[in-house]
Amino acid sequence: MASSSPSPLRVLTGITPSGTPHLGNYVGSIRHSVRQSVAPGVESYFFLADYHALIKVQEPAKIQRSTLEIAASWLACGLDPERVTFYRQSDIGEIPELTWFLTCVTGKGVLNRAHAYKAQVDKNTAKGEDVDADVTAGLFMYPVLMGADILMFNAHKVPVGRDQVQHIEMARDMAQRFNHLYGDHFTLPDAEIDEAVATLPGLDGRKMSKSYNNTIPLFTPRAQLQKQIASIVTDSRAPGEPKETEGSALFQIYQAFASADETEALRKSYAEGIAWGDAKQVLFERIDREVAPLRERYEALMADPAQIERTLLAGADKARALSRPFMTRLRHAVGLRNLADAGDGAKARKGGKGAGKAGFKQYRERDGMFYFKLLDASGETLLQSRAFASPQEAGRTIAALQEQRGAALATYADRLEPIATDEGLRAASEALEALSEATATTKGG
Ligand code: TRP
Repeated sequence: MASSSPSPLRVLTGITPSGTPHLGNYVGSIRHSVRQSVAPGVESYFFLADYHALIKVQEPAKIQRSTLEIAASWLACGLDPERVTFYRQSDIGEIPELTWFLTCVTGKGVLNRAHAYKAQVDKNTAKGEDVDADVTAGLFMYPVLMGADILMFNAHKVPVGRDQVQHIEMARDMAQRFNHLYGDHFTLPDAEIDEAVATLPGLDGRKMSKSYNNTIPLFTPRAQLQKQIASIVTDSRAPGEPKETEGSALFQIYQAFASADETEALRKSYAEGIAWGDAKQVLFERIDREVAPLRERYEALMADPAQIERTLLAGADKARALSRPFMTRLRHAVGLRNLADAGDGAKARKGGKGAGKAGFKQYRERDGMFYFKLLDASGETLLQSRAFASPQEAGRTIAALQEQRGAALATYADRLEPIATDEGLRAASEALEALSEATATTKGG
């Protein structure tokens, strides 16, 4: 898929399933992200951050419900799971493992300064309580889990709200620290704050947010939507009296849905003294026009949770095709290695005199199956095979790789673990070239 364009921009977005999506989420994130996901040259990763949800929500049924609702919402809004990688965080077992690796390169002092943790500490201090009252280690570690989400897929860009920028900076620091210690494995991510994306006011005029209890659910039934819009706060100006658009929540919400022309028309109606009841009807109809077809799809999706489950599992397969071999590489990088990889400890000194020769290495695993890998001179795994029933079969694939070199990577893709990055692919092809010149193989295990 990515082979035609040189290196796509990888954009990664996580959504914590801890509630029901509302109009503010739609305008502030979903609508924009779905549009961006189909932009040329972009490779998008969308995931439901259900491990994150456990930090805040300790009602199992609510986690399940919210995960379903949010998945259905994104799909209803046009996210195309064929085109993007859409998965559930907890289906990627490599993420908690990477979290641990990152935990071991993250300063505790850095985490002390994370906003979410600090806010709780400040609250406790103000109340004269123990600083860590009501603080779980999960809340404290939150930025590391988020770092693992991002670094696992080597995302370049992470679109987030302002409150999350600090976390992206921390992820960047973790990547830098890890790369410094263990070699160049991680892309340094950047936060992307889209200034054009609107923050929607809620029913009471404050920012629409779960924590203010002022939200309008995105896919509330039509009649309910109308009722809720009727409850948006307005001032007490009577019909016929000119109205202020400035500071009018109703106007701001309208603006987030309407075209420039439509917005101008409502501005004029305000000046002409439109009755609040009529303005609310205009707003309701405008929102419903956009949301009604999505709502219909949402309801169909919600009626078939098994289908959503299958979609997410298929997404997890796609994601794990990257995370599994990447994790293999990272385990090796930190020293969690097959002990039978003889002398690796000495060879692994990069560029040192003891550096070994690049080559294939065949071995048998505890599962009784036969494997091989291609190592570079410093002992890094460039290519990892899948399981073979016999050493002969593994040997034949090695021979084919040596003969056909880079081209064989595609031909024998089903016998190899996928390579996560373009750099990785290049390194493997180059090593095959070099090897076929030297025709040097190392047999071991
Ligand atoms: N913490 C984010 C939020 O609450 C959700 C999230 C989890 C996330 N992991 C992420 C966002 C990785 C971007 C990238 O909004």
